[in-house]
Amino acid sequence: MILMSRSSKLSPYLLLTNIGHLLTLRGSARPRRGPVLREIGLIEGAAVLCGGGKIIAAAAEPEILSHPWLRRNKRKVEEVDCRGGVVLPGLIDCHTHPVFTNPRLVDFEKRIGGATYEEILAAGGGIRSSLVGVRQASRAELSARVLDAFQAMLAHGTSTVEAKSGYGLTVEDEIKSLEAVRDAARHWPGTVVPTLLAAHLVPPEYAGKPDAYVDLVCDRLIPQVARKKLASYVDVFCERGAFTLPQSEKILAAARRNGLGTRAHVCQFTPSELEGLLAHKPASLDHMDCVGDEDVAALARQETVAVLLPGANYFLGNKEYPNARRLIDAGVAVALATDYNPGTAPTPSLPFVISAACTHMKMTPAEAIAAATINAAHALGLQDRKGSIEAGKDADLAVFDVADHREIAYWFAWNRCVQMIVCGQKAMGWE
Ligand code: NIG
Ligand code: FE
Repeated sequence: MILMSRSSKLSPYLLLTNIGHLLTLRGSARPRRGPVLREIGLIEGAAVLCGGGKIIAAAAEPEILSHPWLRRNKRKVEEVDCRGGVVLPGLIDCHTHPVFTNPRLVDFEKRIGGATYEEILAAGGGIRSSLVGVRQASRAELSARVLDAFQAMLAHGTSTVEAKSGYGLTVEDEIKSLEAVRDAARHWPGTVVPTLLAAHLVPPEYAGKPDAYVDLVCDRLIPQVARKKLASYVDVFCERGAFTLPQSEKILAAARRNGLGTRAHVCQFTPSELEGLLAHKPASLDHMDCVGDEDVAALARQETVAVLLPGANYFLGNKEYPNARRLIDAGVAVALATDYNPGTAPTPSLPFVISAACTHMKMTPAEAIAAATINAAHALGLQDRKGSIEAGKDADLAVFDVADHREIAYWFAWNRCVQMIVCGQKAMGWE
């Protein structure tokens, strides 16, 4: 299940011309692994024809201009001059936590003073300090916050977002959070994939009885969310101080029993064996800062995507970043996402994450772009519709005001995204 806006506008026919670098990412049936990750399907001097919300054709400009459909329908088509810029599939942010109310400035200053994320969490800060705001907020207030975040993401090139709950941690407040995501998605041109993350932390009401909370999530919350069709996936924070491996497995098993997909936060601060989680066929395992060699080999054999989140490492001031080279070279399918959240990654910018992945994780710009487009689409099960510019796919396109695709990673913290086309409609950057 995916959420989309209720636009009744008729999709126009758009012809994008004068594209300096077109990154098609074509040939995308499987997640990209190993050396294939850097194949971005670059076409210089290209054009793209879109209609009915879909890509009709994408190729070198002379080929598109002589396309038989275009010859017959020239007058119906609106031409967009991309001025030699770079056009790529709308970026896909496959891991975000947008349902919160306030920035966590006290924690921020504590970390500047030397405390670690885990110390702050253990002392009652961290995720817990976001609960009050979410519990007190109305669904409409939350949805306005979520929509603001989605709009900021769109402005940075993102047209598909996975959005987690996880700061309510009661049945009512998790449902309210997912309803807020659904409401925001109705007013946003892009596509939203909602995820239930009720197992983000044991809430204060269940202090000392985490298994009772796990039972609540498994027996009441997950079935209710599935029945109301409020989420596509269930996520769990499997980590010291959050949920143990057996508790996490129980939650993923409940998700599958109720027909929902699975994913997990794992190996962010402490290593976990992945075998038990992999048995639940998660669409993705996320963070993956500290993974054992045997698990890397097992992951390389599965469709599960490893979602790396260097924005969190950056914001926590870590010296270490996830070892992307080790994963890619072993054949693991790797994606990148922002992890947008108030505790570890308050940024809506996937281009920043792409840049951090190049500088700190030694991914090439081509690898990082593929990880934030086609492999991120695989991480959300959307590979048939999103993540590449190929005939028949959704016309989600980002236009960057740069001459070479490597500049998307090079100009860090400088938003070079100037226009967005989402489902064939002009969505950002047009007068
Ligand atoms: O992905 N690690 C767990 N969840 C978030 C942080 C949540 C928070 O601190 O609010 C993450 O980094
Ligand atoms: Fe996260």
